[in-house]
Amino acid sequence: MKRETKPRPRRKAAPSTTETAGATPWTEGIPLGTGGAIHPLFGLGLWSVGRWGPDDEIRTRSAIGRALERGVRWFDTAEVYGSGRSERLLGDAISAHPVGPAAPFITTKVSWEHLRPGQVKAALTGSLQRLGRRSVDLYLIHGPDPRVPLAQTMPALEALWKEGKIGAIGVSNFGLDELEEAGAALSEARIAVNQVRFNLFDREDAEPILEHCRQHGVLVEAYTPLLRGLLAGRYLDGERPPREIRGLSHRMLDDESMASLLARARALRDLANERAVPMASLALHWLRGQGALPLAGATRPEQVDELLAAIAARPEPAVLAEADRIARGDDGA
Ligand SMILES: NC(=O)c1ccc[n+]([C@@H]2O[C@H](COP(=O)([O-])OP(=O)(O)OC[C@H]3O[C@@H](n4cnc5c(N)ncnc54)[C@H](OP(=O)(O)O)[C@@H]3O)[C@@H](O)[C@H]2O)c1
Repeated sequence: MKRETKPRPRRKAAPSTTETAGATPWTEGIPLGTGGAIHPLFGLGLWSVGRWGPDDEIRTRSAIGRALERGVRWFDTAEVYGSGRSERLLGDAISAHPVGPAAPFITTKVSWEHLRPGQVKAALTGSLQRLGRRSVDLYLIHGPDPRVPLAQTMPALEALWKEGKIGAIGVSNFGLDELEEAGAALSEARIAVNQVRFNLFDREDAEPILEHCRQHGVLVEAYTPLLRGLLAGRYLDGERPPREIRGLSHRMLDDESMASLLARARALRDLANERAVPMASLALHWLRGQGALPLAGATRPEQVDELLAAIAARPEPAVLAEADRIARGDDGA
């Protein structure tokens, strides 16, 4: 595994996409730092594993298997997902699956409860055991803990990076101050990734972070890109959206705002139908247009197939601009 070193701060946009011969949307990537590693453009997140019973686990195993068969490379998990079950399922699936031409790109995360130096090392050791690997491509701090200074956590991560157990260091749910503080606490390594909640409807919090990351060459991974299925067409015909969808940018939408959001989502669906592309393709490719790397969830094999179809569709820039306008509620007047 190649490691990246801390470059001088950069003031320009992240490098352009690399495409390899025979690339599919899942195998295309973008440089991760300066060490030669490539970060895939689209990923599959394995958060929801923790919510379910044994039947769901069987379904999840087949979703991961389908993803591996179809060439998905970037898998995102965390020690807290299902208290380690998510990592274990992923490790089992990868070891049961013949490795294709492009090896999986694995991200996992240290919990916000394990940010003291000794805890970080123990957490990574546990994750690697569950995943059945010697190293991960990317290791993220899942979220800050105000009780533990980042000046303690970051050197511990850097030591694991120097040992080659982590291909790159990243963070998640970090604001601007925390990003600065974390970066300043590293000596040779650098923050390669910030994973944030970001989608067509949920962008207020992400936008300033995105700008900062662009300026400093930090890749942005966008989680919840489909707004839990709403941006793939779910909840648009009567089914009441769950609370997690009402909680945009950390504030609960009232009934009127929710009705407006659903109306805009229906307009996005109309646009997708008119342009003969899957609705999810608008959400995923709009994020790519913003420079973010979408990390979607799929809990059954059919959803993996639908995600692949959405990524393969690649709507025209004018269609994405129209989607942006609709999602913002800009009537063009
Ligand atoms: N760093 C963090 O704090 C953080 C937080 C949240 C997520 N994440 C990561 O990001 C990943 C993605 O997040 P997310 O699950 O919120 O993303 P999402 O892509 O917005 O939502 C995924 C959910 O949408 C539904 N869905 C998927 N495809 C669909 C389709 N074609 N039609 C209708 N519904 C569809 C499924 O719901 P059902 O399963 O109900 O069918 C699926 O679980 C997570 O797995 C995790 O790895 C990170």
